[in-house]
Amino acid sequence: MSEASDRNPLVVGVLQEATDDFVVAFTSSVGFDQRMYRQDIRGSIAHANMLGRVGVLTDEEVQRIVSGLQTIHKEIDEGKFQWSETLEDVHMNIESRLTALIGDTGKKLHTGRSRNDQVATDIRLYLRDELDAIEESMTQLLTGLVNLAEKHTHSIMPGYTHLQPAQPVTFGHHMLAWFEMLYRDRARLRDCRVRVNQLPLGAAALAGSTFPLDRESVADELGFDGVCENSLDAVSDRDFAIEFTAVASLTMTHFSRWCEELVLWASQQFNFVNLPDRFCTGSSIMPQKKNPDVPELIRGKTGRVNGHLVSLLTLMKSQPLAYNKDNQEDKEPLFDAIDTLKGSLTALNGLIPSIEPNRENMAAAAINGFTTATDLADYLVKRGLPFRDAHHAVGAAVSHAVDAGKHLHELSLDHGHRRGRGK
Ligand code: ARG
Repeated sequence: MSEASDRNPLVVGVLQEATDDFVVAFTSSVGFDQRMYRQDIRGSIAHANMLGRVGVLTDEEVQRIVSGLQTIHKEIDEGKFQWSETLEDVHMNIESRLTALIGDTGKKLHTGRSRNDQVATDIRLYLRDELDAIEESMTQLLTGLVNLAEKHTHSIMPGYTHLQPAQPVTFGHHMLAWFEMLYRDRARLRDCRVRVNQLPLGAAALAGSTFPLDRESVADELGFDGVCENSLDAVSDRDFAIEFTAVASLTMTHFSRWCEELVLWASQQFNFVNLPDRFCTGSSIMPQKKNPDVPELIRGKTGRVNGHLVSLLTLMKSQPLAYNKDNQEDKEPLFDAIDTLKGSLTALNGLIPSIEPNRENMAAAAINGFTTATDLADYLVKRGLPFRDAHHAVGAAVSHAVDAGKHLHELSLDHGHRRGRGK
């Protein structure tokens, strides 16, 4: 058991007994939610300013609170802040330090507010900041893909279905398929931001507040598009985090497809692209190895983000209204989904512009795979043959070419025609 002196003074209330040491550690979130300190302080300053505007705090009190919070911001920035597990989370660590710094005025900051609407506000602010950074990174990647595609509007490669050579395409066309996937992901991300950017503050614990809070002005100050309309919903739902993680999962799933292709293309067997050495690693035993670790890792990291989506959905499932401590479990999956997506974007932004396609090998692979067979059948149709017959004739021509060890274009017209009719 903890000594009484170790207790968190901000939550003692009705509790007679000191919280068990294990429970303190088990319920604490400060180890992972301290990364939201900027947003927590921004939200607190906006809340204090509003309490001043509506006459709940005096101007002098607001000024003391704001300058205390700014001092704390600086202390944390500089690594001088003492985080305490006993104070449970980022919110109470900062509030407790505020009172230590400015005295009793610090105890007035939490008027008309609960950690429930505070944490929901912090997560939304945090996610919004990250969404903006992610969107920028996605835009950079989209530009990189267009630039790469533009250089290769005439670089022929085999297009595949079932991973069998199917029809010739250009490398540029292939890059633009990746572009389209990411372009939709970016649109989904922007759409998700609309629902993230609503202010929960003012909902307090769950039922709103008896103080004349001016929520719209807080929303304005913090750059929210509006306020969450229902107080129970505001403090309890994490659908905005689930939605983001769903977009992140889908984006990572798209990345895993591109990365799978890069791994294949960089193999000795395909030899379609050279990946820059600085994005590859060697082997500790096989000196000849150049391993495409970065695309492999991105492919692998897709699994953890998909896992986070399932974690968040399951965390939310069946929760009664309103806030439940379960929701503290939203942060680690959300943060890791953000970090993983950002890291993968940074890697791809480094990789994509320096990809060197091997044009000769790609063109040779297109020819070796008889990828023009469909075009030949179309040609015969244009010369008057029904498509099924043309398909049959070209199939025969391909078999003949395989037997003769030739490419389709090396056969005479007469050859293919005669065999096709003969069967
Ligand atoms: N650390 C908590 C969380 O992340 C903050 C809200 C706590 N609220 C409460 N009523 N215990 O959700």
